[in-house]
Amino acid sequence: MAAMNAPSNFLFLATSTREPGVLGNTEWLARQAAAALPAGTPQAWHHLARMQMPPFVDQRHTTGQYPMPEGDMKTLLDATLAATDIVFVAPVYWYSIPAPLKIYLDHWSAWMRVPGLPFKEEMAKKTLRLVTTSGDRAKAQPMIDSIRLCAQFMAMNYGGELWGKGGPPDAVKADTAAVAQAASFLAA
Ligand SMILES: Cc1cc2nc3c(=O)[nH]c(=O)nc-3n(C[C@H](O)[C@H](O)[C@H](O)COP(=O)(O)O)c2cc1C
Repeated sequence: MAAMNAPSNFLFLATSTREPGVLGNTEWLARQAAAALPAGTPQAWHHLARMQMPPFVDQRHTTGQYPMPEGDMKTLLDATLAATDIVFVAPVYWYSIPAPLKIYLDHWSAWMRVPGLPFKEEMAKKTLRLVTTSGDRAKAQPMIDSIRLCAQFMAMNYGGELWGKGGPPDAVKADTAAVAQAASFLAA
């Protein structure tokens, strides 16, 4: 008998550094995609720029391990482990990812080394997707490649990227191709 897949449980990590109250292009586009999920699909959203994330410290070759995180990092670890599907909602910053997403990702290196926590094994069961916006598609390629390679390193399924043409808030609403793609982006 075929193994039953776990019911989908989406985690959206919004990583724009727009001020609170300003809905950026990337989050708007991701919310279009989220709205097309089957009714009742659990979805959690976190805004990384509004969370307390301590700087990552590389202890791999000294203590070699990390304590269980506390505070917002524990909230993010728990949300990450609870999700079947993780969506990075990340505008292109300097051909790369916004700093809050980079800090969160660096902490994956710590979470892989928390004694007793099977982080890497659990991540390998999940799908990672990317919703991004930028001035033009070509400039997004390095960060798209970066996220795909992160998924590959973690043995995660990479579910692809949704790119839209951004700029000032609401600009992406004029990218009709992106808005159309959003409707099916998160489908199995
Ligand atoms: C710090 C910073 C760096 C940026 N770097 C790039 C870039 O390298 N290439 C590009 O096309 N757009 C770049 N942009 C433009 C944003 O990608 C674009 O405005 C995006 O739609 C913003 O997303 P948001 O509205 O969700 O915050 C940059 C914007 C900022 C604030």
